Amino acid sequence: MIHTLRKIILTVYKPLFYLIGFWFYKEIHMSDYISPMAYVRKRNKLKLGGECVLQRSCSLLGDITLGRAVFIGPGSCLYGKIEMGDYVMVAPNVMIAAGNHGYQDRSVPMLHQQDTSRGIRIGRDVWIGAGAVILDGVTVGEGAIIGALALVNRDVPPYMIVGGNPAKVIKERPSKTPGAS
Ligand SMILES: CC(C)(COP(=O)(O)OP(=O)(O)OC[C@H]1O[C@@H](n2cnc3c(N)ncnc32)[C@H](O)[C@@H]1OP(=O)(O)O)[C@@H](O)C(=O)NCCC(=O)NCCS
Repeated sequence: MIHTLRKIILTVYKPLFYLIGFWFYKEIHMSDYISPMAYVRKRNKLKLGGECVLQRSCSLLGDITLGRAVFIGPGSCLYGKIEMGDYVMVAPNVMIAAGNHGYQDRSVPMLHQQDTSRGIRIGRDVWIGAGAVILDGVTVGEGAIIGALALVNRDVPPYMIVGGNPAKVIKERPSKTPGAS
């Protein structure tokens, strides 16, 4: 019953989304899918590269550019200026926070101090594990893996697997294709 209802809603939602929603985004393609339960605050600043999936309950708050076939898992939050390459996988409940509140002046509430943002860059073919947090200014190199629950506050070199708080290199991804001699 619920399955059928979901099917009907999606059948109506998709064409409606493309007909009406399309005009509000900076750049999206017919092959991109944004769940009706995802929240995009600045649609005119969101760029999707095609075949992207934004799952339910994810929030995109900022100036965000995603490459081709990027998957954003449920409950994840992308905040600030973020660029992602192709084939990036973001697991559920990840926080990518490309910004900080100003805190230099004790006499002014931090809420009213100048925010800072350097931006976050995520390379191509990166896998970000569940519950990870990536802080402002970080660059994650191509092919890297961010372990579940990692707190990433420094750049991650390409093809490295990092984990922990603060995140450290656990190991490097094998360079050989399995089975190849
Ligand atoms: C990072 C990850 C891919 C590594 O997997 P793996 O190659 O099988 O690594 P291993 O289990 O052999 O662990 C190697 C070492 O790293 C440590 N480690 C593994 N994952 C870690 C993590 N997330 N944080 C901190 N340390 C971690 C292990 O304790 C082990 O340490 P030791 O050698 O001192 O015992 C995996 O642990 C992970 O976090 N996957 C994310 C899963 C996920 O979020 N899925 C959501 C759906 S997409």
